[in-house]
Amino acid sequence: MSNRVRKAVFPVAGLGTRFLPATKVVAKEMLPIVDRPLIQYAVDEAIEAGCDTLIFVTNRYKHAVADYFDKAYELEHKLEAAGKTELLELVRNVVPAHVRTIFVTQPEALGLGHAVLCAKPVVGDEPFAVLLADDLLWNRQGRGALGQMVDHVHQHGGSALAVENVPADKTSSYGIVDVEQFDDRVGRISSIVEKPKPEAAPSTLAVVGRYVLDSRVFDYLEKTSPGAGGEIQLTDAIAQLLQSTTVNAYKFRGTRFDCGSHLGFVEATIRFALENEKLSDSAAAAMQKALDELGVEER
Ligand code: G1P
Repeated sequence: MSNRVRKAVFPVAGLGTRFLPATKVVAKEMLPIVDRPLIQYAVDEAIEAGCDTLIFVTNRYKHAVADYFDKAYELEHKLEAAGKTELLELVRNVVPAHVRTIFVTQPEALGLGHAVLCAKPVVGDEPFAVLLADDLLWNRQGRGALGQMVDHVHQHGGSALAVENVPADKTSSYGIVDVEQFDDRVGRISSIVEKPKPEAAPSTLAVVGRYVLDSRVFDYLEKTSPGAGGEIQLTDAIAQLLQSTTVNAYKFRGTRFDCGSHLGFVEATIRFALENEKLSDSAAAAMQKALDELGVEER
């Protein structure tokens, strides 16, 4: 068995209710930040981290995600005939040739843990990554968050969860970890609990949507009963996994945009517009104009 992390699981079967009515017809993973859908940012991060097998856990309503990664013959043909090579490359390169995409179905929406368990037959007994596309992690200075975590796991073994500090009144939105001996970036997790109320939270260190997991987590997932929100929680299986193996909290370099929330989505759009070569100047001018016209000052 190789201990290289080659497989990445993308649970994409969620309903996306926070973005209704848009998500009535558009999968939330397909909502674009500037010109690329959220799922593309997560896929690029996984490929940069060295993954070559992308496993999407989807459901019967989420055809758009599979269609997006499929070959678009008619469109490609038209772009080719029109000599639009730049656009053609964009359409063709949503995933590079060495990467394969696999789709598995989550027949019922029973929770994140259940979605990950649906990927078990494809993952087998290798360590693997899980990426939640609505957490957009961006490190403009270099290696993406998953790449940083994979490097750590390849060097030191164990599993790793991306974490960041959140305000004390937000613990009930996250998996919260307790860590022994934090060395600034990495620390071994001693306990983890899903969405605790602030008074019950062991810390304010929250799990964000990147995991590198030992495949033994599947054994625990199979035995996990519904937990917080009546769902089968990945967090509860990880709480079992850390009893027998090392699971580290990893403070990644970079910024997290919570694109599952309206504000995070807008923040990501502003940032990516300002960092976009072609848009940067005009986007900054448009933002300034809007602020001036609305008379908004820094509060
Ligand atoms: C999921 C996990 C939670 C984690 C969060 C990160 O929750 O269950 O532990 O902190 O993702 O975004 P969700 O946001 O799907 O409710």
